[in-house]
Amino acid sequence: MSGTLPKINPTQTAAWSALEDLFEAQKDWSMADLFLNDPGRAKNFSTELDGFYLDYSKNLMSPEVRTQLLVLADEVQLKKAIEAQFSGALINETEGRAVGHAQLRNFEQMPDEVAQTLARIKSFVTQVGNGDFKGHTGLPITHVVNVGIGGSDLGPDMVCEALAHYQNHLELRFVSNVDGDHLHEQLKGLPVEQTLFVIVSKTFTTQETLTNAQTIRGWFLSQAPESAIANHFAAVSTNLEAVGAFGIDSNLVFPMWDWVGGRFSLWSAVGLSIALSVGYDHFEDLLRGAHAMDQHFTETDFDQNMPVLMALVSVWYNNFYGAESECIVPYSQYLSKFVAYLQQGIMESNGKYVDRNGDVVNYQTGTVVWGSTGTNAQHAFFQLIHQGTKLIPADFIAFKACLYGEQDHQNKLLANCLAQTQALMSGTRGQDIESPYRVFTGNKPTNTLLIDRLTPNRLGGLIALYEHKLFVQGVIWNIFSYDQWGVELGKKLAVNVLGSIESSDGLDDSNQANNPGFDPSTTELLRRIKR
Ligand code: F6P
Repeated sequence: MSGTLPKINPTQTAAWSALEDLFEAQKDWSMADLFLNDPGRAKNFSTELDGFYLDYSKNLMSPEVRTQLLVLADEVQLKKAIEAQFSGALINETEGRAVGHAQLRNFEQMPDEVAQTLARIKSFVTQVGNGDFKGHTGLPITHVVNVGIGGSDLGPDMVCEALAHYQNHLELRFVSNVDGDHLHEQLKGLPVEQTLFVIVSKTFTTQETLTNAQTIRGWFLSQAPESAIANHFAAVSTNLEAVGAFGIDSNLVFPMWDWVGGRFSLWSAVGLSIALSVGYDHFEDLLRGAHAMDQHFTETDFDQNMPVLMALVSVWYNNFYGAESECIVPYSQYLSKFVAYLQQGIMESNGKYVDRNGDVVNYQTGTVVWGSTGTNAQHAFFQLIHQGTKLIPADFIAFKACLYGEQDHQNKLLANCLAQTQALMSGTRGQDIESPYRVFTGNKPTNTLLIDRLTPNRLGGLIALYEHKLFVQGVIWNIFSYDQWGVELGKKLAVNVLGSIESSDGLDDSNQANNPGFDPSTTELLRRIKR
């Protein structure tokens, strides 16, 4: 097992200084000139692997800049960091855990407990799918409700939506928010006798999930006997004791492990709803696609390594151009939940201001990630990317082939995707335009990721690509990407606030017992809520 992560301040490297100099010298260069200077740029600034083609030529990046970014990757010992993660070292140091999500999809070297769990998932989803597993009155399951939040919701929900083309007859629903109105909307019209609830919580202590699960349990028991729980509730968790206390039959409890982070867990039994929705074979194919990306990531030289290159491009804008956000625009409506999914992965991982030495950083770390599907986004926020005052690097993701053979639509989808990246780069440069309102300055950076077809395998690869990209960025920024202490304080304070909301006592500024440390603004808001 290789040791822990290196702890190198990136700004102290020679490459960082070289990049600062290059930025000063080249910041006014235009992309058009970069193409003129290098007729082979489109090819030289691209890389591919089975089914994936990344064109990162439309960036404000000269060959010298790329060279220095690659030197930076070496100076922060990225190779060593990757080896540490893949060897099972405890690189999530602040929680004392290994980071093993890639092991969940490595069929050649799969830990026994993972293989056994996958076998159980296969058997269960096959029985539910073919109707052998029945509800308490003997009817087959027709509806599945995934109850979880964060990583226990976003991944399964996003993938089920993305793979809708491959779905079987089961209707999937997702309950995540503790918003009771939404819960009731999701329960509306559910056939109690034919519904399976999958309660997903790594910790089984998450307020939202446990509240929803209890309310669903009560709703269910108002229409079915207690013994029916065994036919209608499954769970996924590391906390088997709490699951047992909830009353879920141990046959329908699927384990996960503390070496799998919530936001990287869809590859584990957290993906049970995915496997139910698209069948086990497609689920396995998703895992195999991710593994292919893992192999590319661990085995390919950095100058051809897709996640590494995407990370370096992003670092260049974040740390030298001062770009605060980056936009992701998939040209596929199937990926309508992809950005929300990535927001947790990327921002929960890299939103950190303390480095791996425990020091406060004096440079920017995690980017703000946002976006939505094209072409819809073109009719919404693209105006700001084209003519606004902010630099917003964007990833355009497109699939070469569509799934239903609507070629006319597909041609238009792809035409829009390519046209936008061209417009963002070239603007109206060279054209004589009278009205300043009609001028496009261009020089807006984009990556284009062209994927052959939206299959479970390619989706797995795409997700893994962004997982590795965020890890590389975290390594460069010298932060711990795999913890998430920043979510704790709000959770803790919510307990106090809830206590006050539920208490019949009024809030009095002078009465500290009834006002356990709330600031004046919160106190006033609470007063109005309780009034
Ligand atoms: O609050 C953040 C978080 O801890 C995420 O990291 C996690 O995915 C989510 O809550 C849900 O946690 P659990 O699966 O333990 O319910």
